[in-house]
Amino acid sequence: MITNICCIGAGYVGGPTMAIIAQKCPHIKVTVVDLNEKRIAAWNDENVLNIPIYEPGLSDVVAEARGRNLFFSTDVDAAIDAADMIFISVNTPTKTYGVGKGMAADLKYIELCARQIARVAKNDKIVVEKSTLPVRTASAIKNILDHTGNGVNFQILSNPEFLAEGTAVEDLLAPDRVLIGGDTTPEGQKAIDLLVEVYANWVPKQNILTTNVWSSELSKLTANAFLAQRVSSINALSELCEKTGADVNEVARAIGMDSRIGPKFLKSSVGFGGSCFQKDILNLVYIAKSYGLNEVADYWEQVIIMNDHQKRRFAKNIVKTLYNTVSGKKIAFLGWAFKKDTNDTRESAAIYVADDLLNEQASIHVYDPKVGAVQIQSDLNYLETRSEASNSEGVHVYDNPYEACKDAHAIAVLTEWDEFKAYDWQKIYDAMLKPAFVFDGRNILDAEKMNAIGFQYYKIG
Ligand code: NAD
Ligand code: UGA
Repeated sequence: MITNICCIGAGYVGGPTMAIIAQKCPHIKVTVVDLNEKRIAAWNDENVLNIPIYEPGLSDVVAEARGRNLFFSTDVDAAIDAADMIFISVNTPTKTYGVGKGMAADLKYIELCARQIARVAKNDKIVVEKSTLPVRTASAIKNILDHTGNGVNFQILSNPEFLAEGTAVEDLLAPDRVLIGGDTTPEGQKAIDLLVEVYANWVPKQNILTTNVWSSELSKLTANAFLAQRVSSINALSELCEKTGADVNEVARAIGMDSRIGPKFLKSSVGFGGSCFQKDILNLVYIAKSYGLNEVADYWEQVIIMNDHQKRRFAKNIVKTLYNTVSGKKIAFLGWAFKKDTNDTRESAAIYVADDLLNEQASIHVYDPKVGAVQIQSDLNYLETRSEASNSEGVHVYDNPYEACKDAHAIAVLTEWDEFKAYDWQKIYDAMLKPAFVFDGRNILDAEKMNAIGFQYYKIG
């Protein structure tokens, strides 16, 4: 039986996943470690509301387990040494240099973890890939462990995470499935059984799926590719709807009632964001190309091309509608996070729309309930489109939505936060310049009501 778990990486996956394991398995000591001291200090903050990741319900889970059997620490070696099972949950971003730049997953953090585990481990360990990895990474990890270790035995399992941000706690409590891939040898099977036992503390056995390692690794990339492909498919149709008078919400509803298609993940939007869809599809494209499968690679790359087009055409439409110029005009942004109920902004469509509008010399005024000025500036600076000084001159951040919208020429809704629907839109209208434009990149506002107030209201599709 597993009694001591270490997780390397206290991010959006490591933190919530381990908090739930600790909550549901009080007999297991769970230690989450990270090199980032600030992040660990925030996880340990006396006020549990200050934990570094905002997820509905997460602070309650942490409050229950922290200090009992859930610990956060920067002492990576000690946690590795003590653990029977080590989850690797570090970031695997797209490479920004060298071979595979802009496409392949950067595995340097994974390799560092493998080397550290090999150096520290003095008894047999099960190493679990929780990060999303290219198919066949397990063999690289095994190679490092077996050749640099202290002669102890390692079993490598693949256990990809399928939680979505904003619903992490509910996804972890009731996952559609838990996927565990392992070696087909008896030792591999034993390691799989031990991990199954951990999840079986709260997940029904029939929802725990076991496969070989390669299927598990590839299933994670495939799941994200299929999900993102649905969004790009409906977004592609949204542009056709705008030309033909069809309504994309009605089309989505009509096709979604076909049980073979299903109603979920068909919301047309300003484009998908988040740290994973783009990264994982680019990785899939890179892998296909590396095997010479160019048609396979092109097929999936189109999902990204469509998504880039959707973000760009949203910005272009704002410029075109505002009489072909936004120079010096105040454009209010409602939302900056890549989706509601998270403070994560990675790859958020808002960043790219802002970047395009700044190129047109617009003045951007942002309100997001969970994202502050430092993050917003850093997201734009990361693009290196212009100087940091120009970004801070062009972008203003508010903690009050009515202030952000006051005297604006136009409002762009970039995130589907529920509170946006409940605003006093008459009050917002009264304080704006006229004609008052609203570009609803999430189709969350009531078109009829907006038009009745007097807005020039544009939705997607
Ligand atoms: P993240 O950037 O939030 O967290 C990763 C953490 O790992 C960071 O805090 C970093 O400091 C730490 N780290 C990196 N190298 C380290 C090392 N050598 N030792 C100790 N700590 C180290 O990333 P994330 O969003 O949690 O994603 C982690 C992985 O999970 C990625 O592969 C991602 O694709 C995958 N994933 C993410 C999500 C999601 O919703 N964010 C969902 C499913 C899968
Ligand atoms: C996604 C997957 O849903 C998770 O299963 C997976 O574990 C995770 O990626 C990952 O590997 O990181 P996440 O990115 O957190 O989760 O959030 P999603 O709900 O999938 O949304 C992704 C983006 O697509 C958001 O910008 C969202 O607004 C957009 N989206 C989603 C749409 O525009 N329309 C939709 O119908 C659904």
